Amino acid sequence: MKNKRLVIGFGLLITALLAYAFIRSSQQSKPDSEQTPSSESSISQGASQEKSLKLGVLQLLSHPALDAIYQGLQDELDKEGFKDGENLTLDLQNAQGDQSNLATMSNKLVSDKSDIIVAITTPATLSLANVTKDIPIVMAGITYPVEAGLISSEAKPGNNITGVSDRTPIKQQLELMKEIVPNLSTIGILYTSSEDNSVKQAEEAQAFAKELGLEVKIATIANTNDIQQVSESLASQVQAIFIPIDNTIASAMSTVVKVTDQAKVPVFPSADTMVADGGVLGLGVDQYQIGVEAAKMVIAISKGANPADTPIVIANAGVIYLNQAKADQLGLVIPDTIKSKAQLVGPAANQ
Ligand code: TRP
Repeated sequence: MKNKRLVIGFGLLITALLAYAFIRSSQQSKPDSEQTPSSESSISQGASQEKSLKLGVLQLLSHPALDAIYQGLQDELDKEGFKDGENLTLDLQNAQGDQSNLATMSNKLVSDKSDIIVAITTPATLSLANVTKDIPIVMAGITYPVEAGLISSEAKPGNNITGVSDRTPIKQQLELMKEIVPNLSTIGILYTSSEDNSVKQAEEAQAFAKELGLEVKIATIANTNDIQQVSESLASQVQAIFIPIDNTIASAMSTVVKVTDQAKVPVFPSADTMVADGGVLGLGVDQYQIGVEAAKMVIAISKGANPADTPIVIANAGVIYLNQAKADQLGLVIPDTIKSKAQLVGPAANQ
């Protein structure tokens, strides 16, 4: 009898324990499973995504001008309260000058569902325009967006693309060269044959040179490997060299300048950074400012502006940039009328 009760009591105890264990475990697993997949956390993620701007950036390659554009973009966004990692996700893709990288990276930025994409250079914009007709593209530093077939007009782009041009007044640039180089009669134009951008600028420069009574020698490179030899041959035939806003040459200014310095031929490029890198003087655009202007457009678009009716901005075109150290080195006297208007860049800029 006693034993039987004991067995029953023990059985009840075990049952009670098992029941307790079962209830505990199911209670524990319940809150657990509620926490993990969570309605709560996806709601809060959703809310922060609404505020957070997903900005893709596609840059053709690194050279001082393009890096300055990116810097200006970043700084202006930051100044306007867009903090990377907080309310901004900035994804910079740098194609290292490679066309197939451009294609892959364009696809990535589109499939990652960027809200807006900034395209630094014409080739980068062309590559993105192939992949998306919906995501707004803000061009940063595109010389001829209409001629490149990217938009229908600068006043009213008409599609998902708008942005900032870096066009410079080429005729005035040639006039400055004439004022600075004594008895200038023959100039060289050096550019990259595969950059449509440069081809167009070189054509313009050639026409203006003719108007100004200058003889022109054209020299083109296919890539950076040609620069040394092509510059040497050009420098031996001309008194001064004009270089358009050319990405390949901007990335290898030091090679050009080594050659032209030896031949004592001054170089007149079209961007502040290229003047700083060894040119004498350039009528160009502040590259950093291109980035700042592009950031302003990004912000306007993020607040609802439509790229189709956002006119192209030309970043403060026509600033004269002077590398006084280089002028001195080549024995060139810069007339005071030019000097007084110029902004100093390069080694002597901080003296
Ligand atoms: N305008 C160039 C393009 O359309 C890109 C560029 C911007 C650039 N700034 C520059 C090239 C300065 C050389 C130097 O591709």
